Amino acid sequence: MLDAKAILIGSPTLNNGMFPTIAGFLCYLKGLKPKGKIGAAFGSHGWAGGAVKAIEQEMDQMGIEMMDSGLAFKFVPESDELQKCFDFGKTIANEISH
Ligand SMILES: Cc1cc2nc3c(=O)[nH]c(=O)nc-3n(C[C@H](O)[C@H](O)[C@H](O)COP(=O)(O)O)c2cc1C
Repeated sequence: MLDAKAILIGSPTLNNGMFPTIAGFLCYLKGLKPKGKIGAAFGSHGWAGGAVKAIEQEMDQMGIEMMDSGLAFKFVPESDELQKCFDFGKTIANEISH
C-alpha cells in the first residue's frame, strides 16, 4: 500500500454502508497516512447502495485524490458492466504510468 501509486477499493453495500472488513481495512490504511496517491471506489448493491460513497468519503478524508469510477452495480455485474470495470482499470493504469 505504501508503494502503490493508486488504491482501488470495492465493497458490496451492507446496511447502507461498506462491508465491515473494508471498514477495518480503511481504519488501518488511515493510520499509514497515505501521500501522493490517487484512488477510486467501486461496488455492488441490492437496492439503494451506499458502500461506494462511504468508501470515497473515507479515502478523500485521508488525502487520497479520488477519481469517480462510476462503478456501482446492482447485485452481480452484467458483461457490459464488467467491461466498464476493465476500461476503468485501463484509465487508472494510464493515470499512473506518467
Ligand atoms: C445483510 C445484508 C444487508 C444488505 N444491505 C443492503 C443495503 O443496505 N442496501 C443495498 O442496496 N443492498 C444491501 N444488500 C444487498 C447487497 O449489497 C448485494 O447482495 C450485494 O451487493 C451483491 O453481492 P452478492 O452477490 O455477493 O450478494 C444487503 C445484503 C445483505 C446480505
